[in-house]
Amino acid sequence: MNNVEERIAIVTGGASGIGQECVRQLRAAGWRVVVWDRSEQEGGVAVNIADYAAVAAVAKQLDGVDLLINAAGIAGGREPVAEKDPAEWDSVLAVNLGGTFYCSHALYPQLRKKRGVIVNVASVAGTVMMKGRAHYAVSKAAVATLTRSLANEWASDGIRVIAVAPGYVKTPMIQRSIEAGELSEEKLAAMHPMNRLASTQEIAAAMIALAQPPFQFMTGEIVTIDGGMTLGK
Ligand SMILES: NC(=O)c1ccc[n+]([C@@H]2O[C@H](COP(=O)([O-])OP(=O)(O)OC[C@H]3O[C@@H](n4cnc5c(N)ncnc54)[C@H](O)[C@@H]3O)[C@@H](O)[C@H]2O)c1
Repeated sequence: MNNVEERIAIVTGGASGIGQECVRQLRAAGWRVVVWDRSEQEGGVAVNIADYAAVAAVAKQLDGVDLLINAAGIAGGREPVAEKDPAEWDSVLAVNLGGTFYCSHALYPQLRKKRGVIVNVASVAGTVMMKGRAHYAVSKAAVATLTRSLANEWASDGIRVIAVAPGYVKTPMIQRSIEAGELSEEKLAAMHPMNRLASTQEIAAAMIALAQPPFQFMTGEIVTIDGGMTLGK
């Protein structure tokens, strides 16, 4: 990654939650940050990452890119799979997996120019199965596999590709489900041996650290940040 003055980061999903905290921390560290989100909050460029033509159009306006953080994502519903509207499968896969691929693909020339880094957001939900969450689990397992595929293909271009796999993080995505009575904060906390949810600050800090030169020999790695959730009970 480029160490000279202006370092440029693109953060998808930068208007809320984990992405928004990445934007805050990067700006505080002097980065120029461009937000790609459905919402124009955080001074973002309104773009639907599941629409390749839209992504390609905004990507073309950029020159070099040092860091792409693919944090945009949607949760989908929590009802049993048999009761799900199949259209939800399409939308969750289109945003979480398709959007991550589209943004990476469209920004490849810009990332190659700066020997940049991509940080994706997978999830422990990609490895620990939760009832009613097949669409989301598949999308996040696929993001992990996409991370490893792109890392393998683009290492020779000097582009590193890594992912984090968080446990539950206190963001508006989870807050909405708690408020709707679909999830309980106490039960979620109890799923983690540390008996709490992650903060957006600790996930964003890890993502940004992993993008920096001390980690320059790490690529294709899925870094679990889950308060011990995947260790078992
Ligand atoms: N919160 C958690 O517990 C948790 C755990 C593991 C992984 N994740 C993942 O972290 C990422 C961020 O989640 P969050 O909890 O911060 O959610 P959030 O809902 O707070 O933020 C997601 C952001 O993505 C944007 N977005 C959604 N669809 C988009 C689209 N098609 N085009 C452009 N922008 C779009 C939204 O507008 C929003 O600003 C997601 O990929 C999520 O799956 C979250």
